[in-house]
Amino acid sequence: MHPRGRPGLRPISALGLLAAAVLTLSGTATAAPGAVQATTLGAQAAQSGRYFGTAVATYKLGDGTYAGILDREFTMVTPENEMKWDTTEPSRGSFNFAPADQIVSHATAHGARVRGHTLVWHSQLPGWVGSIIDATTLRSVLNNHITTQMAHYKGKIYAWDVVNEAFNDGSSGTHRASVFQNVLGDGFIESAFRTARTADPAARLCYNDYNIEDWNAAKTQAVYAMVRDFTSRGVPIDCVGFQAHFGTGGPPVSFQTTLAAFAALGVDVQITELDIAQASTTAYANTVKACLNVARCTGVTVWGIRDSDSWRSGENPLLFDSSGNKKAAYNAVLTTMGGTATAATKAGGVAAGADRSTSAAALPSAFRWSSSGPLIAPKPDATHAIAGIKDPSVVRYNGKYHVFASVASASGYNLVYLSFTDWSQAGSATHHYLDRSAIGTGYRAAPQVFSYAPQRLWYLVYQTGNASYSTNSDLSDPNGWSAPRGFYASMPDVIAQNIGGGYWVDMWVICDRATCYLFSSDDNGHLYRSRTSVAQFPNGFTDTVIALQDSDRYALFEASNVYQVQGSDRYLLLVEAIGSDGRRYFRSWTSAALGGSWSPLAASESSPFARSTNVAFPAGSWTRDVSHGEMIRAGYDQTLTIPSCGLQYLYQGLDPAASGDYNSLPWRLGLLTQTGAAC
Ligand code: XIL
Repeated sequence: MHPRGRPGLRPISALGLLAAAVLTLSGTATAAPGAVQATTLGAQAAQSGRYFGTAVATYKLGDGTYAGILDREFTMVTPENEMKWDTTEPSRGSFNFAPADQIVSHATAHGARVRGHTLVWHSQLPGWVGSIIDATTLRSVLNNHITTQMAHYKGKIYAWDVVNEAFNDGSSGTHRASVFQNVLGDGFIESAFRTARTADPAARLCYNDYNIEDWNAAKTQAVYAMVRDFTSRGVPIDCVGFQAHFGTGGPPVSFQTTLAAFAALGVDVQITELDIAQASTTAYANTVKACLNVARCTGVTVWGIRDSDSWRSGENPLLFDSSGNKKAAYNAVLTTMGGTATAATKAGGVAAGADRSTSAAALPSAFRWSSSGPLIAPKPDATHAIAGIKDPSVVRYNGKYHVFASVASASGYNLVYLSFTDWSQAGSATHHYLDRSAIGTGYRAAPQVFSYAPQRLWYLVYQTGNASYSTNSDLSDPNGWSAPRGFYASMPDVIAQNIGGGYWVDMWVICDRATCYLFSSDDNGHLYRSRTSVAQFPNGFTDTVIALQDSDRYALFEASNVYQVQGSDRYLLLVEAIGSDGRRYFRSWTSAALGGSWSPLAASESSPFARSTNVAFPAGSWTRDVSHGEMIRAGYDQTLTIPSCGLQYLYQGLDPAASGDYNSLPWRLGLLTQTGAAC
């Protein structure tokens, strides 16, 4: 253990007492995770880390009833037709993303994510593609289509349906005839996935099809064999979408078996285009149940909102009637997920209206969030008696989230690494203790991970009492990290002169084109900043200055994050503070330059960036602290770029009733998702 350990930071006397008083007053608000039932599909699905989505058509976004239901109920959006080839590349090399862009910006403005549908499909394909007859031309056209479309939406898509409906119905188990199959042969699917991975390594890549829900169907078996082949040979595939366009009886009895069998191959599964003729409550409930029972089934999307919106409108197959009223099937789905059915409600009500904003600013000035329950808990083993998991850093790379965190116990701090494809998987991921790598034992805490593009090398920055780093050429290899090296020979003078009774903690690196900056905190009201050139990094950090200060040490405490906001020339700074209730929360600032001065954005207790007071806890109020964590980034390099809307933040929270030794507190990790924001 480090001689000081991780300091007991909470001001014990006054604030501790205050916190105790607040707890007594609001004791009933701390229900156990899972105890609170939500009243919308998206919020209820989120309780188990899943999403609930719908297909959306651009031309309906101006319909208030439609948009009202969309924004209130759904957390994932699939453009129904707008990302299909006949719309996005109607003639060779001339791309039109305008209709889909409207859906993407509407979705992200309302905190929903987007499924990209679809890149390679025999249908809704413009005639010019269908008439290509030589393989070289078609290969180049196909690669250009995938690469251009994925590049346009890079960082904005949850998952891409890379290939749609490539197999025949019936008993043959063969690929369907199409220009791709006929001209390029069987290998076109594999090659599409490989091109897609290169185009956007952070996006999930899915194969999507219908009539593959019945485990006994030849088509299901053929797709299964393909996915098994891909995963065994390392062909990049992350997920399989089951369209689930069902008749009146709903899913085949073996549907859950099918989902589980695909999931066991190591891919996520999703229900991607659900509609059921006449929308029987049992059929809908059975479909949703099949997903809930499979851990790697990460979400359900229905193919439209109201019956009148459906491509099968004659069969009334959706969850809302043509006037936007909830149908019985809606309540069946909600209660199957554990939610509370309410009286039939018309769409576009006050709650939905209040969620909409017309601001066009890159970042809003006020923030609201919805939190998951605790998703990641410590996994002590024989040699690691761990009480808390803390200070996470996260990147999405090669189809996975990679999380680095501190593990804390009475005997000290070290680091842990885990990776998983989806948040619903986070709890079951293996924890790799990094004290078994060259990082070694002893005090190591508060990691930050990024890829340093100029060196094609991963960096892990952390504190050892000094500011340290290790490198690794393979992010997914926990044993590949180098031994700790220091950024500084010793504590810079300006820190030594200002630290007072605080501690030097939470080092954070971010680079612009020319310069890398190293930020750190002192638990004493100061944020420090040093710099070096991109060419010299990781050496040469110098010119340490106070970047921001506050006379109240608790108002500018620790755990700073600095990010570049995508598509803007602004940077976002978050710093953790301790509130008047003794609980942790985040304040935010922006700046036009990393080396510049910071202007408050949401920087007060009453208008915080993230605090228990602006976070909804549909899965139960499991924490009142919103503490040290990190944003889900749009990329993974040293520019630390985040999206400007649809923000997500992985944070540490704590059972409000927990007390005792600071190092032994039972910290857990949960995920905030921004709600009600405009881009
Ligand atoms: C449908 C749309 O809903 C219709 O508006 C369009 O006319 C035809 O396509 N499988 C798919 C979806 O993957 O893209 C299809 O969507 C439905 C079947």
